[in-house]
Amino acid sequence: MSIRYLEKDRIFWLDTPNTTYLLGIVAQEGFLGHLYYGKRLETITGARELFRVTEPPFVPEKNDRDRSSFFDAFPFEYSSHGVGDFRESSLRIRTKSGHSAVSLVYVSHEIRKGKGKLAGLPATFGKEDEVTTLVIRCIDPVTKLEVELSYSTFEKVDAIARSVRVINGSLEPLYLEKVMSACLDMEARDLDVLTLHGSWARERRMERKPLGHGKFSVGTQRGESSHQEHPFLALLTKNADQTMGEVYGFHFVYSGNFLAQAETNQFGNLRVVMGIQPEDFCWKLEPGERFQAPEVILTYSCQGLGGMSRSLHDLYRNHLIRSPWLHKKRPILINNWEATYFDFTAEKIVDIARESAKLGIEMLVLDDGWFGNRFDDNRSLGDWWVNEEKIKGGLGELVSKINALGMKFGLWFEPEMISPESRLFEEHPDWAIQIPERRPCRARNQLVLDVSRKEVRDFILDQVFRVLHSANIEYVKWDMNRPLSDLGSAALPADRQGELSHRYVLGMYEMQERLLQEFPNLLLENCSGGGGRFDPGMLYYSPQIWCSDDTDAIERLKIQEGTALLYPLCCMGAHVSVCPNHTVGRSTPFATRGMTALAGTFGYELDVTKLSDEDKAAVPRQVRAYHAFHDLIREGNYYRCASYLENHEFDCYQVVAKRGEAALVFFTQVLATPNMHSRCIPLQGLKKGTNYRIFLVNLDKEELMTDTGRCVSGDLLMQAGLLLDRPWGDFQGRLLYLEETP
Ligand code: DGJ
Repeated sequence: MSIRYLEKDRIFWLDTPNTTYLLGIVAQEGFLGHLYYGKRLETITGARELFRVTEPPFVPEKNDRDRSSFFDAFPFEYSSHGVGDFRESSLRIRTKSGHSAVSLVYVSHEIRKGKGKLAGLPATFGKEDEVTTLVIRCIDPVTKLEVELSYSTFEKVDAIARSVRVINGSLEPLYLEKVMSACLDMEARDLDVLTLHGSWARERRMERKPLGHGKFSVGTQRGESSHQEHPFLALLTKNADQTMGEVYGFHFVYSGNFLAQAETNQFGNLRVVMGIQPEDFCWKLEPGERFQAPEVILTYSCQGLGGMSRSLHDLYRNHLIRSPWLHKKRPILINNWEATYFDFTAEKIVDIARESAKLGIEMLVLDDGWFGNRFDDNRSLGDWWVNEEKIKGGLGELVSKINALGMKFGLWFEPEMISPESRLFEEHPDWAIQIPERRPCRARNQLVLDVSRKEVRDFILDQVFRVLHSANIEYVKWDMNRPLSDLGSAALPADRQGELSHRYVLGMYEMQERLLQEFPNLLLENCSGGGGRFDPGMLYYSPQIWCSDDTDAIERLKIQEGTALLYPLCCMGAHVSVCPNHTVGRSTPFATRGMTALAGTFGYELDVTKLSDEDKAAVPRQVRAYHAFHDLIREGNYYRCASYLENHEFDCYQVVAKRGEAALVFFTQVLATPNMHSRCIPLQGLKKGTNYRIFLVNLDKEELMTDTGRCVSGDLLMQAGLLLDRPWGDFQGRLLYLEETP
C-alpha cells in the first residue's frame, strides 16, 4: 500500500513512485498538520520534529495564553477561519447566528484501495491496484460541520489527487462561503511562481516570476476556467528548468470559477490554496447535506518542469480521459469555419468534402451557422434545427453525401447559449441567466442559458439528440463563446443565488455526461471561443479540446508550449489554415503549418478547393506523416528542448517512444540569423547506450523520409546535442525522426 498510518507517531505517510507526502495529528485537540512533500523518503524517523511544537509558542494546551501564535504559525493541513490563523483560510461558513469561524480537528480516517467518484464532478480514477485513497474525517466541534479530506496516490504516476467533502452535521442550515479543495503549507524558500495567462487567441502563455511575501493569486470569475488565467500554479526552485530543479505543480480539475494562491507570511511559512473562487460563491447546506468540492492534482518533480509535464501527461492519459478515442488515431478532419464562416450552402460543404476526400482527409466538420436563422452570429442560439435555406434536403442528405465520399461527418453546437433573437428566447426568456430589472450584458449578442435548471438541460439535450439521431454524426464540437455575467437564476431562491456559477458548471457536466451516454462512441471536442475552457475537467468528457482560435503556426508555438506544459499533445486541437493567417496576417510555409498541427490532433481549417496546386499536393504528404507518426505523438513522452517564448528565435521539442526506441524532433526556426553555423540542441529521454539513425521527415516531398546517413549515440545527442542545419528564411520547420539502430 502506498499510504500508511503510523499509529505511534500519528503520521500519515503517502508515497508515489518518486515522492513522499507526510501529514500528522498534533496536540490534544487533534489538529491536522502538514509535515513534508517532496522527494521520496525511505525512512522518516524524527519527522514530527518538523511540527516545531517543542519550540515556542508551543501547542495550545501548553500555552493557551499565546494560542494565537500557534494558530498563526502552525503548518495546517486544511486551514481554519477566524480563530487566530490570519493566513488564507480553506473554509469559511456563515451560521444562522451570522458567525463565520470554523476550525477543524481530527476524528477518524480510512485507507482503501481504489478511488471513489466525486458526485457530479469530473475526477481522476484508477483500479484498485493503481490507486490508494486516504479519507480523513474532521469536525468543527462548535458548528458540527464535518469535513472529509481525501488523498489519492497513484502507483505509477507522481501525482496526488486531493478533494474535500463538507457535511452539515448540525441541526440548522448553514452557508458555505468558501471551500478550497486543497491547502498546502510549506517552509518558504527562494522560489519562483509559474502561471499560464492569456487572452482570446493568446491562450496559456507561461509567466515566471519571483514569489515574495504577501499573497500572489490567479483566478477567474468568468464562469469558465478562462482564456485569461489557467487553473494552475507551480512553485519552482530558482535553478529549475526543463531538466532539473524542484517543481511543485497544482492543477484544478474544474471548469468554472477558481482561485489559486500562494502566500508567504511573517514566519517564512508558505501556504498554497486552490479551489472554487469564493467571490460570489455561497452554498446553502441543509442539516445532513453534503457539498463535494472538485479535485486538485498535486505533483512534485525534482527533474524540473519536464518531470512535472510528463507526470501530468501520464496521469491524464491513464487516469482522467475516458473517451474510447483516447488511444485511437483520430480521423483527420477538415472544419469549414475559417473556410466559409457563415457563408455556406450544402453544395459548398460537399465541394469541400469531395476535394478533401481525394487528399486523404477523413472527416468533414460543419461549424457554426447550420441551424435556425443563423446567417451571422447575432441570432438563433437555442434553435437547434437545420437551416434548410442553407442545407437544402436537410442534414440526412448532406451527411449521406459526405459518407458516400468515404468521409465521416461532425457537427458544431453551442448548447449553453441563447440568442435574444431566437424562438427559444421568445418562449422562455426566463431561461437566460440575468438579474431581474437589470439589462443583461451581451457578448457576441448572446446570453447564457441557465443550465443549472434541469428543464433547460432536458429541453436543449432533447433538441441536440434529435439532430444527432437524424443522421450519421460521429463527432461533435461543443463550443461556448462567452463568459457568465449578471448572475441571476429565475429558479433559485434569494439565499441560493450564490450557488448559480457552480450549479451551472455541474449542469454543463451533466449535459456532457448524458451526451456521451446517449452516443458512447462519439468523438467529442470541447471548445470555448478557442481555448477558454481548456482544463482537466473538460478532458474527463472530451479527449481533445480546441486549443485556440489562433491557427497561425508561429503563435501556436507559444500556445502549444504552454498547453503541453500540462496536457498530452493528443488533447490539443490543432489545424492547418490559410495564409495570410486570419488572426495575425502572417504568412508561413505550408509545411511549417502542417508540422505544428501534427503536434496536436491534426486537421485542416481552410477551403481546400481554393488551395494552390503546390499546397494541395502537400496535403496527402502531411496526411501520410500523420498516419506514420501519430501513435508516437499520442502515446510518447514529451520533452521541451528550446522555447521560442524564451529565446525569441527558435523552438524545439521532442516526443520519445515510452521505451526510447524512437523519437520525433520538432524544430522551428522562427527568425533566421545570418552567418552562423548549425545549431546544437541537447536532446532528452533517449537511451544512453544506443545509437540512433537520423531521418528527415518530408512534409513537402514525394518520399516520407530521407535518410540523412547520420548515426549518433543517444549519449552524445543528450550530452553534446543534435546538430541542426539552419534553414533558409523565417518560419521554417524541420521534423526529424530518430530510430534506434543496432
Ligand atoms: C469559436 C470557435 O473557437 C471557432 O472555432 C468557431 O467554432 C466559432 N466559435 C464559431 O462561432
